[in-house]
Amino acid sequence: MVKICCIGAGYVGGPTMAVIALKCPKILVTVVDISISRITAWNSDQLPIYEPGLDEVVKQCRGKNLFFSTDVEKHVSEADIIFVSVNTPTKTRGLGAGKAPELTYWESAARMIANVSTSNKIVVEKSTVPVKTAEAVERILTFNSSNISYQILSNPEFLAEGTAIQDLLNPDRVLIGGRETPDGQKAVQALKDVYSHWVPEDRIITTNLWSAELSKLAANAFLAQRISSVNAMSALCEATGANVSQVSNAVGKDTRIGPKFLNASVGFGGSCFQKDILNLVYICECNGLTEVAKYWEQVIKVNDYQKNRFVNRVVSSMFNTVSGKKIAILGFAFKKDTGDTRETPAIDVCRGLLGDKAWLSIYDPQVAEDQIKKDLSMNKFDWDHPVHLQPSNTAAVNQVSIVGDAYEATKDAHGICILTEWDEFKTLDFQKIFDNMKKPAFVFDGRNIVNVKKLREIGFIVYSIGKPLDPWLKDTPAVTRDK
Ligand code: NAD
Ligand code: UDX
Repeated sequence: MVKICCIGAGYVGGPTMAVIALKCPKILVTVVDISISRITAWNSDQLPIYEPGLDEVVKQCRGKNLFFSTDVEKHVSEADIIFVSVNTPTKTRGLGAGKAPELTYWESAARMIANVSTSNKIVVEKSTVPVKTAEAVERILTFNSSNISYQILSNPEFLAEGTAIQDLLNPDRVLIGGRETPDGQKAVQALKDVYSHWVPEDRIITTNLWSAELSKLAANAFLAQRISSVNAMSALCEATGANVSQVSNAVGKDTRIGPKFLNASVGFGGSCFQKDILNLVYICECNGLTEVAKYWEQVIKVNDYQKNRFVNRVVSSMFNTVSGKKIAILGFAFKKDTGDTRETPAIDVCRGLLGDKAWLSIYDPQVAEDQIKKDLSMNKFDWDHPVHLQPSNTAAVNQVSIVGDAYEATKDAHGICILTEWDEFKTLDFQKIFDNMKKPAFVFDGRNIVNVKKLREIGFIVYSIGKPLDPWLKDTPAVTRDK
């Protein structure tokens, strides 16, 4: 029986291994992690991450050919194929701080593999890493163990949160990069054999190692660039009276462009886009490609501009002050169908409003109170570094209350900011909400999910990203403030 071990039981390691176990009943899959609480949760009824369809897959395989364990060394030493799916956050200090990814977790995993291995291994990069990481890993492994052959493969993951199980069951493609040597190609074939259990042959792409590593960064950069492009257009739409949904629809009908990923928003979030573009920018800079670096950096600048613009719009619309006013925040996760808040635009928007002394009442169906409070009191980039998990700005959260539903959040509020596109927000009783709010009552829709016409008929003053402005808002242009 082939034995797979995955180091890192996070958003990628957990769901990916669960699907491999589901589709390959003859493969023994063990997911290991240094976090005892995460592994305990994976072994319980309350999984550590919320992902539609995940519970069912885990329940079907756990205890049969899918196991979760903290005995990292034992399972690594016994495995034939080792996936490494540890976090690779942006560095907060030292060389490349603010751009380069922190590879400490990766390196310690590689050194541990070298220490405990007694048989040949295929080591698979599942984490998103800089180009040429495979070379560094290869060196660490071969310099630290003798008589063992390692083959390093790059097999980046393209799943999106909220649709992870669907993406894994039916991927657009699986990408495998390996050395172009007979042993390298044998390892590529071994991994291909795993995916071939359910992925059609023509969707499994094989490349050299560096192309696979770079393709992951490129794919995320292209996706994020689309959002920054449509968000840049949304600002122009508001200035001209065009409607960004109509523009996106018209542009997306061009089959060369396509309709997906053209929704204007308050900004993209998530643990990947910003981190991976910064990583790309750093690689370009290290290779002397200044103009290329600047090009990609602009994607992040437009995203920051969009979040800042939203806050300015809220404050300027509400008579240039939100001081002491209750504002309801509907949605805190970075997108619907996940409880993940990493780099969610809600953090920046809430901080902006708190900076203007607003009182926030926050509701999200999947994010816990302590998570929101931690997010609002941590320094940028610190959230993914276990060593810096001490909140640094607890004062801000004194103006925040976390509540159990949208009606409670909006009661007596002056304004509502919709920051995540949860389906339940589309069917709220807005008449009831209006009746319980201070007047004039404002709605700022950062996800374009409300029926603007209907809400204006009820009496709301409505701002919806990139849509023709409410007559009220036309007279209150959003001032551009320095960050
Ligand atoms: P995560 O933080 O959810 O999980 C990483 C896990 O690795 C943590 O549980 C941590 O405790 C564990 N870990 C760290 N060092 C370890 C070690 N030495 N030994 C054992 N366990 C260790 O991260 P994630 O979201 O799953 O992302 C993992 C990687 O996959 C990142 O490189 C990320 O960029 C990439 N990725 C993420 C997504 C996504 O949607 N989240 C999608 C594609 C790729
Ligand atoms: C992304 C990539 O899509 C995935 O392939 C990669 O493996 C990991 O990074 P993820 O961050 O989980 O996945 O979610 P995604 O659906 O890409 O959304 C990212 C952010 O962009 C969210 O905040 C989302 O709300 C925003 N978004 C997405 C928009 O603002 N507009 C869109 O049209 C699409």
